[in-house]
Amino acid sequence: MVSASGLRSLYRLVNSLRGRVALRSLRGMSLDPYGDERLVGLYDEDNGAGEDHDFYLQLADELTAKKVVDFGCGTGLLTRAFAVPGRVVIGVDPSATMLGYARRQPGAEAVTWVDGDASAVEGAGDAELVVSSGNTMMHISTEDFPWVLGALAAALRPGGVLSFESRNPAARAWEQWGAEATYGERDTPAGHLREWMEVTEVDNGRVVFDAHNVFEDGVDTVLTTALYFRTADEIRAGLESAGFGEIEVHAGWRQQPLADDSRLLVFRATKTA
Ligand SMILES: C[S@@+](CC[C@H](N)C(=O)[O-])C[C@H]1O[C@@H](n2cnc3c(N)ncnc32)[C@H](O)[C@@H]1O
Repeated sequence: MVSASGLRSLYRLVNSLRGRVALRSLRGMSLDPYGDERLVGLYDEDNGAGEDHDFYLQLADELTAKKVVDFGCGTGLLTRAFAVPGRVVIGVDPSATMLGYARRQPGAEAVTWVDGDASAVEGAGDAELVVSSGNTMMHISTEDFPWVLGALAAALRPGGVLSFESRNPAARAWEQWGAEATYGERDTPAGHLREWMEVTEVDNGRVVFDAHNVFEDGVDTVLTTALYFRTADEIRAGLESAGFGEIEVHAGWRQQPLADDSRLLVFRATKTA
């Protein structure tokens, strides 16, 4: 069995090779489910600024944050919105394709972009806010979750805030991710696209799915993703072990109270001394 630190090293090695070598899989799974330029070009259209962005941006203002770290920043739509005069903004992501896109966008020069996973987050202990939007924390495996939370805590000053969202396993979202329910066709700048999802594995909160994408060339580009569904209690326990307190969980972006079957878990946790 490969240890967590072994996997981390392998992950870093693969990231350093990416761009030079076409690497498709580790344990049968794409290391970069965001690795197709045409699909990354569609990402912001599919995932525009919404209530989630308003929530995270207001949090930065409320904390009068002078330094914000966006962990798993992807295309950087939210990251760039954090960048106002007098605030340092850092976007971290392991996908070279996502980060490459982010670096090419207007206003990108106001952000420091860092290629890598949580091991690339600087443990400077001076950020007022670390966010992780778009359910990025669900990409973190069970074995990695504790050290990733530790790395994010190390970036924060005492009293700093970590905020992120995660899907509630009780709502069983993956049951809606079958081929029939998700099949769609549309015209995109890269040509006509047929797309659908297929769940291939559900095991103890770990859900693996394939996203199928067929452009006019007829090639089915299959991007495999594993997401880790954690309960509010599991996340709360992880946060407490990593040195966070004052942990608030809501069911949405407007502080909706949590119910057993809430679809979303929105976390706000404060780093204790
Ligand atoms: C759904 S996207 C969200 C991107 C962005 N935060 C947003 O709100 O649009 C998930 C992001 O998580 C990143 N990611 C995947 N595994 C990761 C890991 N182990 N550490 C950090 N980021 C990761 C992906 O590269 C991708 O950019």
